[in-house]
Amino acid sequence: MSRRSRLCALAAMLLVAAAPILAAGPDGVDSPDEITFHEDVEPILQRSCQGCHRPEGVAYGGMKAPMALTTYEESRPWARSIARQVEAKRMPPWFASDETHGQFTNERILSADEIDTILTWAKTGALRGDPANAPEPIEWPTGWLIGEPDLVLDLAEPFWVNDDVKDVNISLKAELITEEMLPEPRWIKAIEFRPGSDVVHHVVGSRIATETETPGASGLLGGIAPGTEPFYLPEGAGRLLVPGTQLYFSMHYNKEPGEGTGRRTTSTRSRRTFRPERASMC
Ligand code: HEC
Repeated sequence: MSRRSRLCALAAMLLVAAAPILAAGPDGVDSPDEITFHEDVEPILQRSCQGCHRPEGVAYGGMKAPMALTTYEESRPWARSIARQVEAKRMPPWFASDETHGQFTNERILSADEIDTILTWAKTGALRGDPANAPEPIEWPTGWLIGEPDLVLDLAEPFWVNDDVKDVNISLKAELITEEMLPEPRWIKAIEFRPGSDVVHHVVGSRIATETETPGASGLLGGIAPGTEPFYLPEGAGRLLVPGTQLYFSMHYNKEPGEGTGRRTTSTRSRRTFRPERASMC
């Protein structure tokens, strides 16, 4: 018998011996492996939920997740609600329909097994499990998700969303990119938008051609909407940004109208970020 098949035979014998122990709990009642927070659920929350559900919370598109799910204490009270949301596929937010489902970049979905694990956990008392088996906590970045930006742009002028307004769609000028801000043309590597007020629903960035710009280099330049993340260009690709470029932010503001609901919508947070590193075009 080869070493490998001897090992297999040994494993099979061990399994047979262990079978009665696995099948029955201490009180003799069948107890399938327990689903616990630290062993089974926490890794799923880390991968698919904590990006938004953490104390610092990410306000993607102005929508901040209402509670943190980074510890057992934070998650336990939400167990039933978590089960309802993942079963209905409302969480994590992902809007591609099943019919057109293909392979997407930055896909944010749970597998059938993961959903099943969460549902079983909630149904079986949302057990804690052994903290010694918990995965290492994730160190989430604070501040910009793309790292320290090389260029940060705000709206050229503040925009006021009136009390009586429910929706406004408007294209607003960003600060002009001067030579002091960008001494030489650079390739954009990543873009992150941070809404400067809670009435921002989504933003789409675009630029117009200028005399100095390479022909055909105009067009859409990033954006943010509920559930989106920073935009990274693939390795080896970049978008050229030249001094003198005028960007526009196409804004959708949304809120319930009413007295005192008006907002000034530019602030230190209402900024757009690039990290124009050199990248070769492919
Ligand atoms: C992209 C950000 C994002 C991700 C990722 C995300 N959530 Fe959420 N979650 C939100 C936001 C924003 C809300 C509030 C939505 C609303 O009020 O309509 C929310 C709401 C919820 C609620 C309902 C809270 C309530 O007030 O009733 C639950 C439960 C929840 N999320 C669980 C999860 C779980 C579990 C995951 C991972 C499997 C997850 N979420 C992933 C952003 C996110």
